[in-house]
Amino acid sequence: MNQILNFRSPNLILAGFGAAEKLGPEAKALGAKSALLVTDKGVADSGIADTIKSILVKEGIGVEVFSQVKPEPDLACQDACIAIARKGKYDLIVGLGGGSAMDVASVTAVMLTNPGQVTDYVGADLIKKPGIATILLPTTAGTGAEVTPNAVLSDPAAKGKKVIISPYILPRIAIIDPYLHISMPPSVTSATGMDALAHAVESFTHFTKASVITDVFAKEAMIMIGRSIRTAVAKGENLEARYDMAIGSLFAGIALANAGVNGVHALSYPLGVEYHVPHGVANGLLLPYVMEYNVIGNIPKFAAIARCLGEDVEGLPLIEQAYAGAEAVKSILSDMKMAHSLTDLKIPEEAIPAMAKAAAANTRLLSVNPRAMTAADVEGIYRNCL
Ligand SMILES: [Fe+2]
Repeated sequence: MNQILNFRSPNLILAGFGAAEKLGPEAKALGAKSALLVTDKGVADSGIADTIKSILVKEGIGVEVFSQVKPEPDLACQDACIAIARKGKYDLIVGLGGGSAMDVASVTAVMLTNPGQVTDYVGADLIKKPGIATILLPTTAGTGAEVTPNAVLSDPAAKGKKVIISPYILPRIAIIDPYLHISMPPSVTSATGMDALAHAVESFTHFTKASVITDVFAKEAMIMIGRSIRTAVAKGENLEARYDMAIGSLFAGIALANAGVNGVHALSYPLGVEYHVPHGVANGLLLPYVMEYNVIGNIPKFAAIARCLGEDVEGLPLIEQAYAGAEAVKSILSDMKMAHSLTDLKIPEEAIPAMAKAAAANTRLLSVNPRAMTAADVEGIYRNCL
């Protein structure tokens, strides 16, 4: 109650089946004449990039395509996109894909109006001017990059991530069309979906920034993802499940943008950096174990998570309700045949001390975890995942 509520989102969010068709009229309304469509090879090969391009062309907007975005893009990939963008006279950047393509698109847009190098802007609130207009369209249901003010680039030399945080990273318009998700394979659906679920759980239990506004989005995200993630993985053409996952992921992204992540993401980064485990797979594995650890930090909220995930906890003592949330996540992982242990991911026990040291150094995330977490605690959680 002592909190000043603070809420940021794109100027416009269009979501639902067929929303992508609105891209053309919206781009025209922004005055766009020439757009750079930023995407990755997989999306280009799937034909989705051509579909999106034709929607813009129909409105008389010229479109060039940059389809070289790599998974976990590094600075070289980002610079390649900026170089192309600086050569053209674009007045609109359209980002199409997962978090990687959308982040590269957002950073490119601000580098067209701000001088210098991308590395000048790594950190919080260093970008001076808004970029050119951006419209982002996710093709996965998970990262939330279409509604978050952060862009993440990998830095292989430093074995770490570079994060740019600025309100100018938010797009002008986010368009979430579940039709664009139908062809997503089960492994990507499960991994990105677990990333979204982690965003919702971590934002809901964020120590300082969870608010009545972010809780509304986080809870609804957990309900929608909890009831539909298995079905979306089992049958990609199930439209109801795809809708729930698309909107659930959007809501989790909005919660993430305005509260944030903590323990799960802190512990998952070393798995990605050192062992190249996909972000969502690492988060999925760690989520129930970090939840179990965190329960006593906020018992009522962890009990609420169990209810959002559909657990029948009526009549149980509150503490048992709270632990039921972690069990519900384990059951989701098991049904989707996702990695259950570090061993499943071929990460040896000997790797744990170094990973624990790296995760414990992430004080930005661990300081806002609902329960204090030392390096020894982190090591204990990794050992529970063996
Ligand atoms: Fe994430």
